[in-house]
Amino acid sequence: MTVKKRILSGMRPTGPLHLGNLHGALANWVNMQEQYDCFFFIADWHALTSDYEDTKHISEYVRNMLIDWLSAGLLPDKSTLFIQSRIKEHAELFLVLSMITPVPWLERNPTYKDQIVQLSNKDLSTIGFLGYPVLQAADIIMYKAYGVPVGVDQVPHVEITREIARRFNHFYGEVFPEPESILTQTPKILGIDRRKMSKSYNNAIFLSDSPDEIAAKVAKMLTDPQRARKSDPGDPDVCNVYEFHKLYSDNQTVERINRECRTAEIGCVECKQIMARHLINALEPMREKRAYYETRPHLVDEIMVDGCEKARKVARQTMVEVKAAINI
Ligand code: TRP
Ligand code: SF4
Repeated sequence: MTVKKRILSGMRPTGPLHLGNLHGALANWVNMQEQYDCFFFIADWHALTSDYEDTKHISEYVRNMLIDWLSAGLLPDKSTLFIQSRIKEHAELFLVLSMITPVPWLERNPTYKDQIVQLSNKDLSTIGFLGYPVLQAADIIMYKAYGVPVGVDQVPHVEITREIARRFNHFYGEVFPEPESILTQTPKILGIDRRKMSKSYNNAIFLSDSPDEIAAKVAKMLTDPQRARKSDPGDPDVCNVYEFHKLYSDNQTVERINRECRTAEIGCVECKQIMARHLINALEPMREKRAYYETRPHLVDEIMVDGCEKARKVARQTMVEVKAAINI
């Protein structure tokens, strides 16, 4: 038997997961479970880097995130699923890495500069926010992950992680491998208002939405902006509803919509109803799994505890090596 390569990734628990998260990350994670030794964790310390003022929902978000993951098909006996803050070693390694990370590396980080502007309503002039990539580096190298499945926005963080690992090895001897980003091709799906799907834009379809909620949201979706009346021919290539069809409807339906939209044989109302039906069907297995876990809270607790236990074993071992290497 060949040993599977290890991959690791995390998500900040900032609210319920939506279709953007599913297609942008989670579905890929689910597919990687066979091939890799997977570590997936809920980055609750990272949630505090920007949302430190209001933490009242965090434990609820953590729990619901695990339920979202399980519903989507992450399997606790295949993947190690854990919670960052419950493994004390993350905070400890973050401290060690902080000692060797030059501040200019962090100030140069494009996501740092970007977020400071984007989230101008928050005071982000904190050590924690500047140090975000240092904590992320600790998360990754703690498990000596070979690869990190991430979206393009996270590539700079993996790059900083490589630099920090290299610097550590240079000072103290080879302890850490340098991880690679694993970029996954993701379909482009937008929110119901055609902006990027995001909880804060109020345009998201959540994995936990009921069939009625999904149907109501789909009915509100913006379509081809040039198509004002049913009698106007439409262009599916610029229509977000059509993108959804491509993901959720069978080929025959997709072809038919493509044809009948252009000839104005089908109207948007009917087109959306068909799509909503297929989307609702596609999410049915997730709703079933969700119902299963929601009625078995003790099982969810057990999965959390077991996953953390498995992760902690690896993290402890790494910290033994780290401390030996730095003579502490
Ligand atoms: N920064 C990541 C995000 O916002 C979350 C994250 C934290 C992460 N630690 C990580 C991702 C380690 C991959 C590996 O999406
Ligand atoms: Fe979009 Fe369908 Fe309307 Fe065409 S018919 S514009 S694909 S919603």
